[in-house]
Amino acid sequence: MEKRRALITGVTGQDGSFLAELLLSKGYEVYGMVRRSSTEKMERIEHLRSQLNLVQGDLLDQSSLIEALKASRPSEVYNLAAQSFVPTSWNQPVLTGEFTALGVTRMLEAIRKVDDSIKFYQASSSEMFGKVRETPQSEATPFYPRSPYGVAKAYGHFITVNYRESYGLFACSGILFNHESSRRGLEFVTRKISDGVARIKLGLAKELRLGNLDARRDWGFAGDYVEAMWLMLQQAKADDYVIGTGESHSVRDFCEAAFSHVGLDYKDYVKVDKSFMRPAEVDLLVADSSKARRVLGWSSKVNFRELVRMMVEHDLARLKK
Ligand code: NAP
Ligand code: GDD
Repeated sequence: MEKRRALITGVTGQDGSFLAELLLSKGYEVYGMVRRSSTEKMERIEHLRSQLNLVQGDLLDQSSLIEALKASRPSEVYNLAAQSFVPTSWNQPVLTGEFTALGVTRMLEAIRKVDDSIKFYQASSSEMFGKVRETPQSEATPFYPRSPYGVAKAYGHFITVNYRESYGLFACSGILFNHESSRRGLEFVTRKISDGVARIKLGLAKELRLGNLDARRDWGFAGDYVEAMWLMLQQAKADDYVIGTGESHSVRDFCEAAFSHVGLDYKDYVKVDKSFMRPAEVDLLVADSSKARRVLGWSSKVNFRELVRMMVEHDLARLKK
């Protein structure tokens, strides 16, 4: 029997690398779309290189998406590519809109042209809930985005729903809450903390400068969340799902847990630096994932303490080398 084929955009990112591992373990032929760069950015998928088929493409370029689909002939497309760092979205709002919002339409149009039976997953975000209208947040909670990134993701979500309703595409939007790992980019707060703790513990740094310590997030483990993406595309009907742990912790809680894991008190090292504050903040996110539990049979496995431990241990080992 022919292997199932999947195309992942954003395969070089945190989630792309975990999803590629998952799909390979399920026997898929996995294609990853990568954009041209003068330097290699394959660190997260280095260990998978011999098993992956890489195709060049960019969400800004319509014809490259069509060619990527023709080359890979997938039955499933996971659109994970985006400008994903919230602070950058104030600095580059138009580019963020091009990648993170219009890029979704470009991919959906490419699917309509090449093969409208392709199942499509859109990486939507809890950042769309922004200034939250209710707590916890579910699929029925209205959006109130607080950053150009959040606004762009809301567009991506609704265009996915619209193409499902207009053209009958099998298009799902996964509204994922923050998910982390030792492969998280170093500028995101959890990784900045785990890296900072390891540096301080090893005598490589004296302090850690952060912004708003009171913001609360629903943090889970990325490896658990890619399973939910896959499950969405295995259902009889396309739909939208909220994915999170249902627990919320503050940035301060994360610091407390990470520093105490190595026997230190965060209050001795963390300095608040206003330059990391945002023009508009998302104060509190916490997921109601009861629909995903009921329909997909999905729940997160790695808890908060375990996630912190995993990330700090990884950065200690990495920096010791
Ligand atoms: P990430 O590590 O920042 O990865 C982003 C990926 O997008 C990278 O592979 C990047 O490629 C690629 N990319 C960016 N612009 C592109 C373009 N114009 N054309 C093609 N590829 C492009 O993000 P992540 O944490 O894995 O997140 C995956 C997706 O889920 C993103 O859409 C993000 O917004 C969304 N999301 C993430 C979370 C979370 O907590 N992690 C939560 C909700 C939603 P390069 O390597 O070339 O830069
Ligand atoms: N990055 C960063 N750096 N954040 C800080 C810092 C700091 O020094 N200090 C405090 N924070 C606070 C931010 O103000 C925010 O409230 C919280 O930590 C989390 O910030 P990030 O880790 O940058 O993630 P995010 O919540 O803005 O966005 C992530 O999650 C979204 C899902 O809700 C990204 O992965 C998005 O792509 C994703 O959609």
